[in-house]
Amino acid sequence: MGKFFRKYYKPLKIGSVTLDGNVLMAPLAGYTCFPFRLMARRLGAALAFTEMTSANGLKYRDEATRKLLFTNDFEEPKAVQLLGAEPNIFEHACRSGFVEPFDIVDINMGCPVPNVIKSGEGCALMSKPDTAARIIEACKRSGKTVTVKCRLGLSDSENAAEFAKICENAGADMITVHGRTRNMMYSGAPLYERIAEVKSVVSIPVIANGGIFSEESAVEMMSRTGADGVMLARYGFENPLIFSELSGKTTGETKYELLLEQIDITQKYFDETFLLSYIKKLTSYFMKKKPGTKQFRQELYRCGEVGELKRVIGEIFAENRGGG
Ligand SMILES: Cc1cc2nc3c(=O)[nH]c(=O)nc-3n(C[C@H](O)[C@H](O)[C@H](O)COP(=O)(O)O)c2cc1C
Repeated sequence: MGKFFRKYYKPLKIGSVTLDGNVLMAPLAGYTCFPFRLMARRLGAALAFTEMTSANGLKYRDEATRKLLFTNDFEEPKAVQLLGAEPNIFEHACRSGFVEPFDIVDINMGCPVPNVIKSGEGCALMSKPDTAARIIEACKRSGKTVTVKCRLGLSDSENAAEFAKICENAGADMITVHGRTRNMMYSGAPLYERIAEVKSVVSIPVIANGGIFSEESAVEMMSRTGADGVMLARYGFENPLIFSELSGKTTGETKYELLLEQIDITQKYFDETFLLSYIKKLTSYFMKKKPGTKQFRQELYRCGEVGELKRVIGEIFAENRGGG
């Protein structure tokens, strides 16, 4: 067992929800669909979030939203992430049929994308703490467990600790801090000491996120921030076996086997167009650091049906179908 498991792995209580562990899979737009979340959970992530979903968009009840928010009782507990700018829209969203099955509502206060910021959503809420607080209160009225995911600030001068305290006072049950400012986007080492500041001022659980790409970096995140747990995003998608490593679960599964399992699950619940798009993304992440597979990338993206996709995946992982 690795150091993370021995020293830092523990159950986590978020509001009325108790999780087996403190290693979480982040929301990732375009990636964290139901089949992926099931796999991450099975391998050891204690919770996995849907990708961000527009709170306002829920009223249209369209097919795209249905796919984004698909879940069933194999996923327990269930966590949805909502994006928006207005308290009353969040309140309606939390009471909608789409959100009803979810136990936890996470509010996106970290998205740095220009269009999102312009609409006053995502990370823009960090510079409007009053609105952020009213959104949390509005979500809490649904009776669900409510969490917040934010960054260190919209600009470098902002104070995540002060913001976290406001979220806690408004009723947030947990806060996840991506240890980068909006200006840093997705690169640069996380600023551990600023996450530690957040931890020192609130008593709700603080989850540290950003730049965890190995067991060692998860250990470093915990030791330098004192956080209650970690959330992995890009590396969780690239190598979901990291969840087994961090949670002390042994699995002899290979990435090839995981892909075949994901094809089966996705086939059960989604159409072929969705399946092809999702499995191609997952395969492409899985082969990122795999030498000698570059030449298969084009072939992978050309696949037009599941049989062909399975054949190409078989070629990519040919030498380690049994163990790698
Ligand atoms: C492609 C992509 C999509 C993302 N989508 C979301 C999202 O829907 N909601 C959210 O809160 N964060 C989203 N994030 C941010 C991640 O959840 C995470 O905070 C960030 O990638 C830092 O973690 P990492 O260094 O472990 O990847 C996204 C990041 C990427 C790269």
